Amino acid sequence: MTNPYDSAKPATTTQTGTPAPSDAHSLTVGADGPTVLHDRYLVEKLASFNRERVPERNPHAKGGGAFGEFVVTEDVSAYTRAAAFQPGATSETLLRFSSVAGEQGSPDTWRDVRGFALRFYTTEGNLDIVGNNTPTFFLRDAMKFPDFIHSQKRLGDSGLRNADMQWDFWTLSPETAHQVTYLMGDRGLPRSWRHMNGYGSHTYQWVNAAGERFWVQYHFMSNQGVEAMGAAEAEQLAGSDADFYRRDLFDAINTGDFPSWDVYVQIMPYEEAKAYRFNPFDLTKTWSKKDYPRIKVGTFTLNRNPQNFFAEIEQAAFSPGNQVPGTGISPDKMLMARVFAYSDAQRYRIGANYNQLPVNQPHAAEVRNYMHEGQMQFTPNPAEHRTYTPNSFGAAGGPEADPVAGVEASWETDGELMRAAATLHLDDDDFGQAGTLYRTVFDDEQRARFLETLTGQGRGITIDEIRERFFQYWTNVDAALGEALRRTV
Ligand code: HEM
Repeated sequence: MTNPYDSAKPATTTQTGTPAPSDAHSLTVGADGPTVLHDRYLVEKLASFNRERVPERNPHAKGGGAFGEFVVTEDVSAYTRAAAFQPGATSETLLRFSSVAGEQGSPDTWRDVRGFALRFYTTEGNLDIVGNNTPTFFLRDAMKFPDFIHSQKRLGDSGLRNADMQWDFWTLSPETAHQVTYLMGDRGLPRSWRHMNGYGSHTYQWVNAAGERFWVQYHFMSNQGVEAMGAAEAEQLAGSDADFYRRDLFDAINTGDFPSWDVYVQIMPYEEAKAYRFNPFDLTKTWSKKDYPRIKVGTFTLNRNPQNFFAEIEQAAFSPGNQVPGTGISPDKMLMARVFAYSDAQRYRIGANYNQLPVNQPHAAEVRNYMHEGQMQFTPNPAEHRTYTPNSFGAAGGPEADPVAGVEASWETDGELMRAAATLHLDDDDFGQAGTLYRTVFDDEQRARFLETLTGQGRGITIDEIRERFFQYWTNVDAALGEALRRTV
């Protein structure tokens, strides 16, 4: 067998394929003289280097991911007509994990919510479920999202992260309590990306072949088990191995230890949303599993690392707007805003034709439309293809929309334009589900760790007024917890 490391190397070339004169020496006037501007290869190499970075994602900058396969093992065709969810269907998948607040180089084991962005390359186009390792979120209106992210990032003057501004925002925004309870609990420090569940978090819609509509919540349950990391270990790793999670995933896949997740859904019949005791379109709430038990759909396995991290993970562009026939969004105000926000960020972060990149183009479906110009166009249409529709030239002239194939999720709505909080349902309040999570889902050990974490957080607050609100916030979640914190902080 020939050893590729021993064989002769092919010649280096310029970006246009001409053999490069040297990998090591610039073109100079004599051995010690000035470098000339017409050293085309040097100029090209330096210019390329200067353009190597694209802006990092504003939230979720630090992450890693891998490819795999999703297999439908059950029959959920009563709820959705999506081809990817029909019995026995298989789809290529891409999953990117991330931390929310830190920058590209930040340590993986800083306490944070973890992103869980899952793409199915389906025969009906790409379906993206861009969720987290928590079933809820901090907010219920997109208007507050940039302020929330600013409060988690860095101070304007010193560029430092700051407990005061995090707790100032959270305690002035009581709807954050449920998600902050998750964040300060074990989910804030997973043992690895492999050892956490993922959630679509929002309510989405499914539509079956008969046109019946259902509300749906996605749950991705780790087959590696859900495990947390202790705060001391996390702190030590933050200093000694900032890429701990990224390394863990890459190494596991490289050694054939492929992680997998079972895909479950909670299904709510369309009409039940109106009277359910929690507003199902409020992202700060979960649906009770007693009311809507989990139904299994299938399993996906990650079995292929990226060949090139930049091309396939950094340039991956997920969007909750990437839905397929039989799946769709819901009237959740956060979700509707996200449909705009992601593609907008990606046009800026990557470029106008970001969806033509190999990682973003559909792998099991074709793209046919009249959007074929702009920067970095590299999938031109056939010569006879018209640049407009309608046109008189049949199939050769280009495609025509098919409303049956392109069926969309929908719901009735009618009302005055206004800026208002969403309707409260019977059991809706800001602190109730947070209290239930603390009292009935956490066990004694988890509650002890939670108190320790919050004690550390409270001690990091330097402004009395914010610390007082911190005590009140946790008293609202659980009176005894609030009292305990007044003693320990
Ligand atoms: C209105 C609320 C939100 C807005 C405006 C928003 C906006 C953004 C933007 C602009 C990005 C960067 C996209 C890119 O550059 O490729 C991003 C990334 C991300 N967001 Fe959100 N977001 C919101 C809420 C959420 C929620 C509720 C979740 C989870 C349930 C979430 C999960 C993620 C994840 C996982 C990523 C990283 C995706 C990846 O791995 O490429 N976001 N968000």
